[in-house]
Amino acid sequence: MKKKINIAIDGHSACGKSTVARMLASSLGYLYIDSGAMYRAVALFALEQGLAKEKSIDAPGLVARLHEIDVLLKRNTDGSICTFLNGEDVEESIRTMRVSSVVSPVSAIPEVRTKLVELQRAMGKEKGVVMDGRDIGTVVFPSAELKVFLTANIAERGRRRWVELESKGVHMTMNEVVQNLSDRDLIDSTRKVSPLRQSEDAILVDNSSMDALQTYQYIKKMAKVLKGEDSETGA
Ligand code: DC
Repeated sequence: MKKKINIAIDGHSACGKSTVARMLASSLGYLYIDSGAMYRAVALFALEQGLAKEKSIDAPGLVARLHEIDVLLKRNTDGSICTFLNGEDVEESIRTMRVSSVVSPVSAIPEVRTKLVELQRAMGKEKGVVMDGRDIGTVVFPSAELKVFLTANIAERGRRRWVELESKGVHMTMNEVVQNLSDRDLIDSTRKVSPLRQSEDAILVDNSSMDALQTYQYIKKMAKVLKGEDSETGA
């Protein structure tokens, strides 16, 4: 019998975690959870309420209003996931550079993490979840059956994110994109609570020279073995 497992995919910004996690979830019939979207929704709330500007965050102000924030991930009929903030579809607005520039300091606030980690754990209780983020293998699901730490060199990550932004009509220089990624990497990996780090039992995958499909196929092979399926049979 096929057993359900939880898959944790952590790693640096813009190395394709969400694309690969989404592909894996869809092929396994699992639930995909983008934990970064949840932090982005809280960052958007902070911006909208004047609690965050550029890189300055009113942390006590945001913590005092955390109870007003309701973040929900809903699955669309086509399997894609949509993020809702207090009942409003914010899937597009959480992907802007305005949100990207404040999300790392917002996600470094311990109370924000406590709130979101609790929601994430509840979503993974029944297993059969692929969740991507920064602390999934270390904090959210320390006993996930498969943990992957995904990375790629910063130039390649910058190129990928730049192409993605251009396709959405967002024009930035490569330098600006790379700067945002390295700023976020630094804050994410040096913050006090749940910093981005590779869990000891996570498998390191550097996909600098792999595309999304190759990365997905590589990780899927490992998932099949862990689910007790023979990778040769394609079952
Ligand atoms: O995956 P992403 O780039 O959409 O994530 C946005 C930010 O949220 C990222 O800079 C760090 C934070 N984050 C986090 O601290 N922990 C997670 N599990 C996911 C994201």
